This record gives sequence, structure tokens and C-alpha cells, in this order.
Amino acid sequence: MNNIKFFLGEEIPLELHKVRVIQKLNLVPIERRLRALEESGYNTFGLSTKDVYLDMLTDSGTNAMSDNQIAAMFQADDAYAGSQSFERLKTAVEDVLGKKFLLPVHQGRAAENVICRAFVKPGDVIPMNYHFTTFLAHVLENKATIAELVYDHAFNFDTYHPFKGNIDIEKLEDTIKKHGVEKIPFIRMEASTNLIGGQPFSISNMMDVRRIADKYGIMVVLDASLLGENAYLVQQREEQWKENTLGEIIKMMTGLADIVYFSARKLSSSRGGGICTNRKELYQGMEALIPLFEGFLTYGGISVREIEAMAVGLYETLDETMISQSPTFIKYFVEELAKHKVPVVTPPGVLGCHVNAMPFCDHIPQSQYPAGALAAAYFLISGVRGMERGTVSSVRDENGVEVLANCELLRLAVPRRVFTLSQIKYAVDRMAWLYENRKLIGGLQFTYEPPVLRFFMGKLAPVSDWSEKLMYKFRQDFGDSL
Ligand SMILES: Cc1ncc(COP(=O)(O)O)c(C=O)c1O
Repeated sequence: MNNIKFFLGEEIPLELHKVRVIQKLNLVPIERRLRALEESGYNTFGLSTKDVYLDMLTDSGTNAMSDNQIAAMFQADDAYAGSQSFERLKTAVEDVLGKKFLLPVHQGRAAENVICRAFVKPGDVIPMNYHFTTFLAHVLENKATIAELVYDHAFNFDTYHPFKGNIDIEKLEDTIKKHGVEKIPFIRMEASTNLIGGQPFSISNMMDVRRIADKYGIMVVLDASLLGENAYLVQQREEQWKENTLGEIIKMMTGLADIVYFSARKLSSSRGGGICTNRKELYQGMEALIPLFEGFLTYGGISVREIEAMAVGLYETLDETMISQSPTFIKYFVEELAKHKVPVVTPPGVLGCHVNAMPFCDHIPQSQYPAGALAAAYFLISGVRGMERGTVSSVRDENGVEVLANCELLRLAVPRRVFTLSQIKYAVDRMAWLYENRKLIGGLQFTYEPPVLRFFMGKLAPVSDWSEKLMYKFRQDFGDSL
């Protein structure tokens, strides 16, 4: 995003792309939105896009593709084995991520499955900055656990710290000493920690992690799904890296990891994923799992067309105007909400704008899922679909007891180059109204709770008739307006 000075009026983020393919959107009346919410089980994953106006559920697989990516899809070399498209992807991975051995997988969680099956044993502990839902599910599948080691300030959402995704190095060393090296197959760093507000780690922190890893002979595994944006925030916020290109920063980070894996749905394209390394023995330790779970080694369950788009998308992560677009819009979104006193995660991170549901809904006990209730209420009054990132997204302990999450966030994802500024302004306006009327929001309870990844398929219901009351107030204030 170029830094443009405006002669008139407010400073706004400027798009350095134009829209050439469009998709029509609907904004259905609030009465229909209430029915849609009931049909979904008050879970935004259960909504149909025909009822959604702005789909801010996620950036996974929803970033806008470039003309060059789409053009590349036409030159795909369809072959079960030895496809030239895969060769082009391998070259892109080596050029951008600096790793020469590549295992393709159909999406990020497939990489997590392969890595966990290859390296995690029952009883192991994986230290990390913070977990991601699907990674945790694979660790638990393999009868191991995790240790989350971000600094305590990562959960002080209204205080400024440029790198809330950093690992607390003292806690890391204590964890290694407590469990013993033999129980720790690797340390996992997640770029731009998804679940705690898209907050980045710094390169100096990753260097410290590498130092500790080398001291104890432990591998470092980097989840690079949101690496481009993490690199952008390093360039913005870490003094020593201000003059470096995104490419140099990315290579620095990947160079500190033994294994890098990614969801290409976030990093570079709309499908796919990969695991890469420069260590042949690690590659060989995972190789056999690819044909077993994914597909042959040169397509990994991804369509060859998508492999071409991934390769072009990887080179595009080096383009600052592309990578900065989403964080710049998120910054605008966060700062506008803050002007209306809406509690938001600061500093603005990547992936989306995160609303802090604990103070927003301080009248709802955490056991009644304030972030889930806020996601439902916000969809009801705006047609904007966000995602709960709190206790609904958490898991019960081995005795079935609810484990309250460290934070209750409503994430409003801002995929790259998808939404216009007027749409972001609409989202701000409706959130400001909801904040004024927040006491009308009530809690939720589960009516159907699957044992694994319950936030995807679970069904909930309001604990009272609060959604009808909220709709009534909306009609009073907005009249016939949608
Ligand atoms: C940090 C991170 N890792 C892994 C994944 C899983 O990737 P996928 O959705 O492609 O399976 C995601 C998805 O959102 C993610 O954000």
C-alpha cells in the first residue's frame, strides 16, 4: 500500500488494484437473517452465503486472485506424476521460502496431519507461541499436548506491543527443562498467531527461539500460512528490518526453521498447501505419508491448475502493494471502531479486525459464549458474517469439563483485495450501533456438540428471546432499511 498524502479530508487506505470480475451480493431483510440464524444453530459456519452480505468469516480460500494467477491456471500440465506445474511450484518455493524439498498437500491441516504423524508420539509436548485449532486437533489425535508460551501481555488487548505473537524465551526454556528434550519433538512458531488477533512475532524473537532450539537439539517448525503479513509487520515495526524487502525478511524467517508448512489458501492462492525443508532426512521421514493421505508426490491432492496459481501467488507475496492491502484495511477498520469506543484488539494485526467480546458483552458469563453471541448478534443486525474465536472454538478437557478460552474474540476477516472501503464503513457503522445496544445481546447454549472441532458443526440456541428483542430495536432505529 503506497503512502499517499491526501490534500482534502481524512486519510484512507488506497487500493492499488482495480476490480475486473465481480460477484453480486445480497443484503436480505433482518427478518430473513433471524430465520437464517435459527437454521444455522446460531453458528456462523452454518449460514448459507445467500443470506450473507459481507462474508468476513475467514480469509482462507477467499482472497482475490490476480489476473496473472488465473492466466497461469491455463498452462497447467495435467499429469499424475512428474507434472511441470509441480516443477514450477518447487522453483517458487525455493525462490521465495528458500527450501528445496517440497511435499504438496491439499490444505494446511493436511500438512499438520503429516507433520504430527511423522514426529509426534503419545505423551509429547509441543511448545509454541499459540495454537491453531486444526493443529491442536492433530496433536490431540496423536495423544500429545501443547504448551502455549506467548508473553502475558498478548492478552492485554488494549495495550500496545508490536509483537504479541512472540514466544516468552524464559517460559520456553522452563518448558524444555520441565518435560525433558526427549518429549519435545519440535517447537512450533505460528506466523501472525491466528487465534489471538493476528499478532506477529519479531525476527529477534525467532532468533532467540532458534538459539534455544540449538542449545537443546530441538527442531523448529514454522507455520507460514500468514507469513507474508508477518513479514510486512516486521518491516513496519522492527527497527533493524525497516530497510529490507519482504523477500529478504521472509527468507530470514524461513531460514531459522527446519520445517516450514503452509496453507496456500491463506499464503498464496485459494487452494492447496505444502511442507518444505532443506533437510533430506526430514523430507524422507514424511514422504511416504503424502501418497497415503494426499495424492502422488507431484500433486498432493491439489488440482494442477491450483498448483500453477500457488506458484504465481508465492511470487506475489513479495509484492508490498499486495501484502500490505489487507493489514492497511484492517488498521483502518480497527481505528474507526476504536473511535466509537468499541473494544478491539490493538495494535491492529493481520487477517482481520478483532472485536473483544469480553468487555463488549461483559453482562454475559463466559460459560454462555460471549464471542459466539456477539457473532450471532452482529450477523443479525448487519448481514456481516464473522467468526467466533473463544470458548466455542476451544475443547473440553479429558473429563468433559468446559475449558474457558484465554480470550473471547469476534474476528471479522478482511481477505486480500475483496472488500471496498464503503463496505468496511458499513461494517463499522453497524458495529457502532450494536455497541450502543449491547445490553440487548444475550448468551448461547449448545443444543448439539460434536466431540472434535465443535465450532465447525456445533448447534447453539439463545438462552432467552434476546434476538427477537434486538431485531425489534433495529426496526425502531432503522425503519425499513435492511
Ligand atoms: C495459522 C493457520 N495454520 C493452519 C491453518 C489450516 O489451514 P487450512 O484451512 O488450509 O487447512 C490455518 C487456517 O486458517 C491457519 O490460519
